[in-house]
Amino acid sequence: MNPKLAFIFSRRSVRKYEDREVPPEMLHDLLEAGMAAPSAVARDPWHFIVLRDKNKLNQLADILTHGQMLRQAGAAFVVCGDINQAHDQKESYMLQDLSAATENILLAANALGLGTCWLGVHPRPERMDGIRKLFQLPDNIIPMCSIAIGWPKDPPPARTRFNPDKVHQGAW
Ligand SMILES: Cc1cc2nc3c(=O)[nH]c(=O)nc-3n(C[C@H](O)[C@H](O)[C@H](O)COP(=O)(O)O)c2cc1C
Repeated sequence: MNPKLAFIFSRRSVRKYEDREVPPEMLHDLLEAGMAAPSAVARDPWHFIVLRDKNKLNQLADILTHGQMLRQAGAAFVVCGDINQAHDQKESYMLQDLSAATENILLAANALGLGTCWLGVHPRPERMDGIRKLFQLPDNIIPMCSIAIGWPKDPPPARTRFNPDKVHQGAW
């Protein structure tokens, strides 16, 4: 692991958080980092629902069965895309753009000492429908994932998952 890339290798999924508030200014920084991501033809089709209220975090946890850490999180984002805004109105472009923004947010949070966990929503219909109903999303807005955010308790260690079998030099 190149020490200059420590901010990448030390980003881990954090599923336990301290009972401590995440300041709105930090959430703003994360959103700014997210919106600095590349997007196809710079269409920036992303939208972010920002959650800090315990009641809403719990309601989201009711929908995302693999996201129970939301109940302890200080905040969360729901990352959504506007299909009408996506390049060629293609869902694939939109999901690639939102994924780039999501990873930017995870890395930015880690650099600021926050812990995060990417919580899958798309393409599971029950999760997408639950979020659509909870936030009364317009038909053109598609939820892709949520990000739990909080001050890490017992953060997992940095690690590399480098696997030479995945690398194909010049040909398959
Ligand atoms: C598309 C996607 C969906 C994920 N969904 C969940 C989830 O619902 N719950 C969860 O705890 N982790 C979820 N994760 C996190 C992965 O489990 C985690 O990134 C993976 O195990 C690698 O561990 P690391 O993030 O610590 O490097 C998701 C990650 C991705 C990219």
